[in-house]
Order: sequence, then C-alpha cells, then structure tokens
Amino acid sequence: MFRNKVLLVNTILIIGMAMFFSPNIAQAQDNPVAGTTLENLMTAFNGESNANARYLAFAKKADEEGYAGVASLFRAAARAEQVHFEHHTAAIRELGAEPKATIETPVVKSTLENLQAAIDGETYESTKMYPAFLKQAKKDKNKTAITSFEYAEEAEAVHARWYKQAKKEIDKWKTKRQFEVCPKCGNVVDFISGPSCPICFEDTKKFITVT
Ligand SMILES: [Fe+2]
Ligand SMILES: [Fe+2]
Repeated sequence: MFRNKVLLVNTILIIGMAMFFSPNIAQAQDNPVAGTTLENLMTAFNGESNANARYLAFAKKADEEGYAGVASLFRAAARAEQVHFEHHTAAIRELGAEPKATIETPVVKSTLENLQAAIDGETYESTKMYPAFLKQAKKDKNKTAITSFEYAEEAEAVHARWYKQAKKEIDKWKTKRQFEVCPKCGNVVDFISGPSCPICFEDTKKFITVT
C-alpha cells in the first residue's frame, strides 16, 4: 500500500515536471541561447561553412533536375555564405582563436524540397540566430562581430526571399541565371541598380558575378 502511494506520488511528480519543462525545451530549441561572442562566432562559422557545402550540393541536384536557374541561385548563395564565414573568421582571429568547421554530408532531396530546406535555414538564421548573437555582441561591444552578424542577418533575409520566389515559380527557373554577390555582406541581386550595396554600401563594381 505504502509502496503504491510512493509510486503514485512519483508518477505525478514526473508528469508535473514534464509539463513544466517541455514548453521551455521547445522554446530553447526555437530561440538559440547565445553563448559568449566567441562561441557564437564559432557556431556561425560552422553554420555558414555547412550552408556553403549544402548549397553547392543543392546546385548540382538542381542542374541534374533541369532547374539551371535554381542551380545558379544556389551557387550565388553559396558564394555569399563564403563571404559570411570569411568575415566571421576575421572576428574570431581578433579574439585570438582559430575557426573550425565540422562539415556534415548534405542531405540532398528534390530541388523543391531543397529550396524549402534552404528557406527554413535562412529564416532561422535571419530571424532567430543572428538577432540573438547580435544582442550578445552589442553587450560585449565587439565591433567586428557586430558588423559580421548584422551583414549576415540582412543578407540571409535576402537569400530567403530569393529561395521563396524560386520555389513559388520553379518552372520559370529552368534556364541559367546571372547573380551578383556583394563581397562585403553577402547580398545577392540579379542586376546592379546603383553605385553601392543597399546593405553595406560596398561599391557595386566590386560585386562578384555568379552564374
Ligand atoms: Fe544565406
Ligand atoms: Fe553588401
């Protein structure tokens, strides 16, 4: 009888704890908890390096499936992610550390699914991850990290918009396209409309053409 009571109390306790903690767990997964600025730079470096590898694999798949325009977009975004991880590298070295990435084998599905995966990744980075990292960098008054996170946050939002557009009208993306990538912030445009980048004010003559 006593044992049954203990068991019952334990069960109630476990259920109660699960109910109490589960929303917090979900929230933690949804909202990245920023570490130190150095840790955040390392996380961002790893993320950008993997995004670069993933987009190059997605580009190959898009070419195989006959979506040459989507392949061009993936290559342009891959180049932009390189801009980001190089900028993060500079910020990491300023703090006396060396960047290190663990490149995972990209999960390549159909081009339509790859576009959705790209939208999800860019949206997470631009609306959750980088805002959290930026807040911490501002607290730490780390100027290089602030700039690096700001540029990445804004450029990832642009990438997300491109991917959404491509997914929506995928049949119009069967021929090769030309993109211009800002070498300073990773912005991606399909034509140059002014003398400077609208995000970072880099001279548009320095933009990198990717097809
Ligand atoms: Fe991106
Ligand atoms: Fe830029």
